[in-house]
Amino acid sequence: MRWRCPICAGDLALLQDGARCQLGHQFDRARQGYINLLPVNHKGSREPGDGAEMIKARRAFLAAGHYQPLANRLVAIVCDRVRDSSRITGPVNVLDCGCGEGYYTSALAAGLLELDTPARVAGLDISRMALRLASRQHAGIEFAVASNFHLPVHDDQIDVMIRIFAPGDFGEVRRVLGPQGIIIVVSPGPRHLYELKQGIYAEPRNHVAPTMPEGFDCLLEDTLQFPVVLQAREEIDALLTMTPFVWTARRETLSELDHLTQLTTQADFIIRCYQPMAV
Ligand SMILES: C[S@@+](CC[C@H](N)C(=O)[O-])C[C@H]1O[C@@H](n2cnc3c(N)ncnc32)[C@H](O)[C@@H]1O
Ligand SMILES: [Zn+2]
Repeated sequence: MRWRCPICAGDLALLQDGARCQLGHQFDRARQGYINLLPVNHKGSREPGDGAEMIKARRAFLAAGHYQPLANRLVAIVCDRVRDSSRITGPVNVLDCGCGEGYYTSALAAGLLELDTPARVAGLDISRMALRLASRQHAGIEFAVASNFHLPVHDDQIDVMIRIFAPGDFGEVRRVLGPQGIIIVVSPGPRHLYELKQGIYAEPRNHVAPTMPEGFDCLLEDTLQFPVVLQAREEIDALLTMTPFVWTARRETLSELDHLTQLTTQADFIIRCYQPMAV
C-alpha cells in the first residue's frame, strides 16, 4: 500500500518514528504506535471524532462480543472475496476507514492470517483517542489518524475497504480503490437498537436506509439481525455511552433507563458491497 503525504500528495515513507515525504513534511508516531497524518486544516475542531468516554464504552461493549456476528460476517465476506480474486497477486491491501478502536480491523487481520494470504491491513480514524486504544491492542496493523474525506493513500491502492457506521466520501473511495477493489459499507438497519430507542423516545423512528452512491455498482446487499442481551447495568451504560442518538435524548428520559439492570434489544445491520462502475 502506497501512502501519500496529506500536505503535498507526494510519496510518504512510513518509518519507525513517524512518516516523511520527499518534500520533508514530517509526521510523528505516537508512543502507542499510530501515526498522526491529520494536518491542522483538516481537523475541524481541536479533538475531532469520538471522544475518550465513547471510545472506552465501545471497546467494553465490543470486547464483550455483543457484535461478534457482524465481525464474523465481515470476515467471511472479505475472505470469500480474496479467495475468489485471481487478480490480487501481491499482498491484499485492506483499509478500515473510521476504524474506531479497531475491533473489526483486527478481526479482519486475524481472518486473513488464517487464510494464509499475505495482507497489509490498515485502519484510519479521525479520533486520536480511538487510535490510542487500537494501536495498543493490535500489533501488525498500521493505524493512522486521518480523515475519510482526505485519505492519505495514493490512487488505485486498495483491494478491500470497509466502513462501518462512519462517514466518508465516495469520490475518495473511487480514487483509492484498485482495479476490482471493493468497499463494504455497514449502516444501521431500520430496527437497529429499537428497544433501546423505545426507552428514550415516545415514538421511536426506524433508521432510514442509506442512498446508493452514484457511479458504483452494488455487488451485494445483505442484512443481519440478532438479539443483543445485556445482563448488567455496566453493559447497558456502555451501549448508551457509545450510541450517538443518546446524546440528543432528554436527561429525564435517560433516567428512566437508569433503573434497568437487563435489556434485550435487536441489532440490525445493512451490509452493502460496492464497486466503482467501469468508465
Ligand atoms: C460509530 S464509530 C464506528 C467505529 C468503528 N467502525 C466500529 O464500528 O467500531 C464512528 C467512527 O468514525 C470516526 N470518524 C468520524 N468522522 C470521521 C472522519 N471524517 N474521518 C475518519 N473517521 C471519522 C469516529 O471518530 C468514530 O471512531
Ligand atoms: Zn509532503
